[in-house]
Amino acid sequence: MAIANVGIIGSGAMGLGITHVCAQAGCNVVTVKATPGSWEKAKATLDRNLGKLVERGKMEAADKEAILGRVTFSTDERAVADCDLVIESVIEDLETKKDLFRRLESICRPNALLTTNTSTLSVTAMMAVCKQRDRVAGLHFFNPAPVMKLVEIIHAFETSDDTIQSLDAFCRHIGKDPVLVQDTTGFIVNRLLTPYMLNAIRMLERGTGTIESIDQAMKLGAAHPMGPFQLADYIGLDVVEAMAHNIFADVRHEHHAPPHTLTRLVQLGYLGMKTGKGFYDWSQKPAVQNPQLVRPVV
Ligand code: 3HC
Repeated sequence: MAIANVGIIGSGAMGLGITHVCAQAGCNVVTVKATPGSWEKAKATLDRNLGKLVERGKMEAADKEAILGRVTFSTDERAVADCDLVIESVIEDLETKKDLFRRLESICRPNALLTTNTSTLSVTAMMAVCKQRDRVAGLHFFNPAPVMKLVEIIHAFETSDDTIQSLDAFCRHIGKDPVLVQDTTGFIVNRLLTPYMLNAIRMLERGTGTIESIDQAMKLGAAHPMGPFQLADYIGLDVVEAMAHNIFADVRHEHHAPPHTLTRLVQLGYLGMKTGKGFYDWSQKPAVQNPQLVRPVV
């Protein structure tokens, strides 16, 4: 099935990034703000993100306008009724996502594909609340979605081969390199990346190195664009902690349990770049390691 009209539910960083990618590839996109309030701020954020690319000479001003012209914002989920594909990117809460899938099933056309951008929740659990399950799958993008080439296509218990083929063609059409993954907690990337970041935090707690030295070592020694602490701050420490909880709840291995320092930072509201402080103090240019973490938080 050719996918020309895409519905995105959720207008946070991921929802807007996916909106950008799909509209840039020529799809008509309906982006629904899932939480109360107007969509004006989401539209302004997309406009600003695209504007930065124009300022830096990465995009023509006319292309920016064409992209914005293909996006319709709404606060009404029913706006996705005519979409060929819906990608939900709402809060990482299974009950919220299950309720959304129940509603999408009655809103969308019978041949529309219904997908989730969840990081670590069960796609099969979302599928289970649907009557027509063969069209349900995971479509997991990475942050920043306009830059990261990978999309994990998640095959849940009753996803049909036709659905997988359509999603594979769609990902290639929007310029991504998809990988097919069976529905297991954390899929491939987060299942490997989460314990990696958690182990870096434990390394800090043991005093093996500092935030900066561990990051520097992984950037220069493993050719990662960001070290584990910079990456955790970039993803959001609340998100990293939630991923740890979800994976730990499934595998019950202590490697996946959130370390003390992570839990304390989240409790204190230090969530990384989005709040200005996490493992680093991002208000400084360049960012410096959070002075409160020179000693482990106990
Ligand atoms: N939108 C569009 N383009 C963007 C962008 C954005 N939000 N952010 C950066 N870019 C582009 C820039 O224009 C630039 O393009 P160019 O190569 O054509 O010049 C390029 O990306 C590099 O950007 P910068 O020069 O500004 O900055 P960096 O070189 O420091 O790169 C980064 C920034 C791309 C974020 C890089 O540091 C990186 O790849 N970091 C790792 C990101 C990562 O691992 N993400 C996965 C997180 S896990 C996840 O998302 C899963 C989820 O479930 C939690």
